[in-house]
Amino acid sequence: MTIIWDHDPEAAETYRIALGGDVVQLQAGPRVSRALEQDASHDLVVIGPDIPLDDACEVAERARVDHPALGVILLRHRLEVGALAQALRSGVREVVQADDQRALADAVRRSAALTVQLSGHLPGSGGAEGKVITVFSAKGGVGKTTLSTNLAAYLASTGATTLLVDLDLMFGDVAISLQLQPHSSIHDLVAMRGHLDAQGLESVVTVHEDSGLHVLAAPADPSDADRVPSEVVLELLRVARSTYTYIVVDTPPSFTEHVLAAFDVSDLNLLIATLDIPAVKNLRVAINTLDALGAAREARRVVLNRADTKVGLSANDVETALKQQIAASVPNSLTVPASVNRGVPIVLHEPRGPVALAIRELGDHEIRQRFGEVLPNGTKRSFSLLRSIR
Ligand SMILES: Nc1ncnc2c1ncn2[C@@H]1O[C@H](COP(=O)(O)OP(=O)(O)OP(=O)(O)O)[C@@H](O)[C@H]1O
Ligand SMILES: [Mg+2]
Repeated sequence: MTIIWDHDPEAAETYRIALGGDVVQLQAGPRVSRALEQDASHDLVVIGPDIPLDDACEVAERARVDHPALGVILLRHRLEVGALAQALRSGVREVVQADDQRALADAVRRSAALTVQLSGHLPGSGGAEGKVITVFSAKGGVGKTTLSTNLAAYLASTGATTLLVDLDLMFGDVAISLQLQPHSSIHDLVAMRGHLDAQGLESVVTVHEDSGLHVLAAPADPSDADRVPSEVVLELLRVARSTYTYIVVDTPPSFTEHVLAAFDVSDLNLLIATLDIPAVKNLRVAINTLDALGAAREARRVVLNRADTKVGLSANDVETALKQQIAASVPNSLTVPASVNRGVPIVLHEPRGPVALAIRELGDHEIRQRFGEVLPNGTKRSFSLLRSIR
């Protein structure tokens, strides 16, 4: 959790998007020190521009000894060399101009990555291979892109290097839903076939600045989809594993050769269901197909999207029809299409809303914990959402 230490009671709101995640605001220095002593799960303290420099440096100096993985970012109205030097000497990680939200978001992300490295908790950081998570449903419009985009943005915002691949090669809308204008696409990898390396992959990704997420977009021209052989997808995912901690794959609503290639190497398949008979029927067929392909059942999780829609079908009905438990439920909310139209993932725009909470919980427990990340103590599993919408 992030602490914002600021006299201005509106500070948490002012810096909300740049800070992302859970933020607690404290106005007095002694309360900050006490909070750090009592709860070791804090990973960042952002110190407001009106907090005296000496007080800020004192907290940073103490934190450097007591909580070496804790990040301290100092906001100042103006950047002055003297203050900068004093702050950095005391252990402050970065000093950022208070009105530069973009710079703050970047600093928060760098700090999160460093904290994770110092804590030594991240799979992939010790040479382990990154994990491929494929998000699929055999029916269109159930929320694959919404969930894959938000999950990937959330994972990236925790400091994990994350790539989101748009395998909906004909009608992919990952880039547009993040308001990105990609200069390249997966089609550009065809020319590097057989000798793709990390640098080649990096040259075709587009960075989503707000979250740090890397995105490999679908071709701008749908007719290029046929020109991407499935071997390119396999090669791409193999190279991506050596570079990224998590690779999230968004898919079209059908078993294309590209989707099958992704399934072949996935560490986790998230199958999206909604409360309607065609979606459940199609998912049942998809599960049968995965069984026939020999895909591991332990690497499969069903996620119920728009789970509180009142349409006469219940979560229990879905579980019975699929013969599979629902691992996570994401509620229905008008904030989802609104966030897509705004081009800001809901996990960043409204991190405490019920949709973001459900997606973050899915990310924490089905992805981060599953693949060996040790989450801070404060990250506890809560079934309340799931229960309340069943
Ligand atoms: N939890 C939700 N609450 C409300 N609306 C949602 C929710 N999830 C998705 N939507 C909306 O449903 C529509 C379809 O979502 P999305 O594009 O993510 O589905 P998809 O499965 O990727 O579709 P396609 O198969 O066409 O690629 C979008 O307008 C999205 O905003
Ligand atoms: Mg989609």
